[in-house]
Amino acid sequence: MPDTKINTVSRRQILLGGGALLGSTLIPGAGFISDALGGEIARPEYLIRAGFNENPWGPSRVALQAIADSTKFTNQYGVNRGALIAMMAELNDVPPDHICISSGSGEILRTAGMLANMDNGSVVCADPTYHDLIRYAERAGAEIIRVPVDPETMHVDLNAIHKAIRRDTRCVYLANPNNPIPSIIEKNALRDFTLDVARDRMVFIDEAYFEFVDNPDYESMMDLVREGHNNIVVARTASKIHGLAGMRIGFGFAHPEVTTRINEAKTGAINVLGLEAALASYQDSSFQEFTLRKNKESLAIVETMLDELGVRYVKSNANFSFMQTGVDVTPLGEAFRAENIMVGRPFPPKNDWLRVSMAKPHEMRYFVQIYRKLLER
Ligand SMILES: Cc1ncc(COP(=O)(O)O)c(C=O)c1O
Repeated sequence: MPDTKINTVSRRQILLGGGALLGSTLIPGAGFISDALGGEIARPEYLIRAGFNENPWGPSRVALQAIADSTKFTNQYGVNRGALIAMMAELNDVPPDHICISSGSGEILRTAGMLANMDNGSVVCADPTYHDLIRYAERAGAEIIRVPVDPETMHVDLNAIHKAIRRDTRCVYLANPNNPIPSIIEKNALRDFTLDVARDRMVFIDEAYFEFVDNPDYESMMDLVREGHNNIVVARTASKIHGLAGMRIGFGFAHPEVTTRINEAKTGAINVLGLEAALASYQDSSFQEFTLRKNKESLAIVETMLDELGVRYVKSNANFSFMQTGVDVTPLGEAFRAENIMVGRPFPPKNDWLRVSMAKPHEMRYFVQIYRKLLER
């Protein structure tokens, strides 16, 4: 992976200068960029959302139709969870009692974080990683053991995580692919690790981005749930490839002893529109394929620029990119926002690493234009 060779002083000067000092001129009312670098892409009239790893294309048409068709049922309490569970059971080849549905997978994560603390234990995770389970467990009083990613590859360091596990560790949380770093954990190592560690504690594998992975070294750990192992939870979500983040539908897959505990502890409920949208969307493979194809296009646009500029980044296995800009990303984020692009929040202590979610390809071309304008020497 190339190391960045960028003059950070000049970049900082650029950032401090803001839009007006970047050689760009906004033509009032026209909404176009005319700049010294010859950028031709029009400044959008709207904010490009590249900050939350959302699906820029979703929800699918079939999901929207399902939502429209079910608004008349929103006066009813009786959401038919059975239909969604039955479909997920069939799609994933697991018995229905191995599945819980939640208000986004975040609810499963937070419930698991709370359960982990019930025995006053510790939770082990990679650092950085997704925060939901960890923060919830921490606020509930659990000790969090954060294990830094490998500094060279930025991958989750499974050996170091193994060593960090203590007698009182109740849960090991692994996001695979990880977030904000879009890396994966090698499948054989993960399988051995999970089977070994789950003998004495919960291994929680968060597969929010699994549909985006196109890497022979990757495998979902769903088959371990299917085989009936206890103490293993796999979480999935309708928020990402299905573009239903605002509908709040997520899933936990685990042995019935675990799904029962999660169902008893969680406090949220799903709504009829989210349920119908998910039912329709999971059967619409064409939308998922379309999203994947476009995501690859967008990633290629961004990663090609990063290669050209020699910027260090982690090759993406998801719908976002993580790059070392060489500057503090807080003012950088503001500079992007001034150009109508919302990028990811800072992930301290990696304060010069930027997470950018993949918007539509033409939007990412605009992102590239602005990135070059703000950061190219
Ligand atoms: C790794 C990971 N897990 C879980 C979630 C939670 O998603 P949701 O609650 O929308 O299912 C996210 C959201 O960004 C995520 O990045």
